[in-house]
Amino acid sequence: MALSTAKLSIFAVLILATLASQTKSRMVPPQLSLLERHKQWMEQYGRVYKDDEERVVRFKIFKKNVEFIKAFNEVGTRPYKLGINAFADLTKEEFKATRNGLKVKSCKITSFKYENVSALPSSMDWRKKGAVTPIKDQAQCGSCWAFSAIAATEGIHQLSTGKLISLSEQEIVDCDRTSQDQGCEGGYMEDAFEFITKNKGIATESTYPYQATNGTCNKTKESSHAANISGYEKVPINNEEALLKAVAHQPVSVSIDAGGLAFQFYSSGVFTGDCGTDLDHGVAAVGYGKTDDGTKYWLVKNSWGTSWGEEGYIRMERDISAKEGLCGIAMDSSYPIA
Ligand SMILES: *[C@@H]1O[C@H](CO)[C@@H](O)[C@H](O)[C@H]1NC(C)=O
Ligand SMILES: *[C@@H]1O[C@H](CO)[C@@H](O)[C@H](O)[C@H]1NC(C)=O
Ligand SMILES: *[C@@H]1O[C@H](CO)[C@@H](O)[C@H](O)[C@H]1NC(C)=O
Ligand SMILES: *[C@@H]1O[C@H](CO)[C@@H](O)[C@H](O)[C@H]1NC(C)=O
Repeated sequence: MALSTAKLSIFAVLILATLASQTKSRMVPPQLSLLERHKQWMEQYGRVYKDDEERVVRFKIFKKNVEFIKAFNEVGTRPYKLGINAFADLTKEEFKATRNGLKVKSCKITSFKYENVSALPSSMDWRKKGAVTPIKDQAQCGSCWAFSAIAATEGIHQLSTGKLISLSEQEIVDCDRTSQDQGCEGGYMEDAFEFITKNKGIATESTYPYQATNGTCNKTKESSHAANISGYEKVPINNEEALLKAVAHQPVSVSIDAGGLAFQFYSSGVFTGDCGTDLDHGVAAVGYGKTDDGTKYWLVKNSWGTSWGEEGYIRMERDISAKEGLCGIAMDSSYPIA
C-alpha cells in the first residue's frame, strides 16, 4: 500500500499549505504528527485510498474523529473511554450506512417462558459457560441482524446439546429472503429465527462461510443442518427486568441505537451514552453484572471485529431510569427456543 515518496511529499505540502493559511508559524504543528498518525493508522488497518484527493478527504474525517475522541477522553467525566479504531476515517453517517442494518418490526407479542422465574444470579457471563463463539466481523454489509440471531442460536444450541458450534450468518443473508429481509440491506432477527425453524436447521460457519455480500442461496449448503431451533419468543418490551430474566437463561438478541460517534469509537468501560432509541443495530446480550463501584451493566457481543470495544464486546449501563433501557436495549429483544 506504500505511496511513493514523491506523492507523499506532494500531499504533505498540500496539507502544510492548508495549515499555513489557518495558523501562523509553529515549530512543530500538531497536525503534522496527526498526519503521521493517519499514515500509521492506514498501515495498521491496511487502508488504501485510490488517490491523494480521497486521502485528503479521509484525513479530514480522521482528524475530526481523533479530536472528538481526545476531547471526550480529556473531559473524563464518563465511566468509559473512546479509542481510535478501524472506523476512524468514517463519518457517523457513513458508518451507520454500511455497518448496521437492523429493521424494526411493529412489536409482536408471544408467550414469555421466563415470566415467572426468580432467584436470578447476580451476574452472568455466557462466555465463561462456553456458550459464546469468538467475536465475528460483519464488515461492510448491513447483516448485523444475522449475526445477532446466530449468536443467540449458537448459545441455545450449546446450552441444550453441550456443543458450541460456530453457525452460518451467510446462509441467513443468502437464503432468508422470504419477507423484508434483504441480506446486506438489513433484516429482522425474528425472521432469521423463523427461517432456521422452517428450514429445520442451519449450517456451520465452515460449511457456509461468511462473504459479507448478498449471495445467491446455495441449496446444497442450506440443506446441511448442524443445529436446530423450534421457534422463538419475544421479551416483553420496555422492561429491563424481563430482559434480565431472559439473559440469565440464555444469550438474547437485542436491538440498540448504535448511531452515535461515542458508540463508533467506544473502547472500554461501562458505556452510558449518549444515544437515542432509534434502533438500528442488532447485537447479542450475553451476560450482565455490576462493576466494583456499583454500576450495573449488560455484557453485549458486537459483530465489528475484536479491535472495537473491549475485544469486540461492550458493557452497556443497565437499569437506567428510562424504561426503554440505554440506547433502547429493552425495546426489541428475542431469543430462540431449542
Ligand atoms: C406465570 O404465572 C402465572 C400465574 O400463576 C400463570 O398464569 C402463567 O401461565 C405463568 N407463566 C408461565 C410462562 O409459566
Ligand atoms: C442486496 O439485496 C437486496 C435485496 O435483494 C437489494 O435491495 C440490495 O440492493 C442488494 N445489495 C447489494 C450490495 O447487492
Ligand atoms: C454450493 O455448495 C456446494 C458445496 O460446497 C458446491 O459444491 C457448489 O458448487 C455450490 N453451488 C453453487 C451454485 O455455488
Ligand atoms: C433437526 O430437526 C430435524 C427434524 O426434527 C431432525 O431430523 C434433525 O436431525 C435435527 N438436526 C439436529 C442437528 O439436531
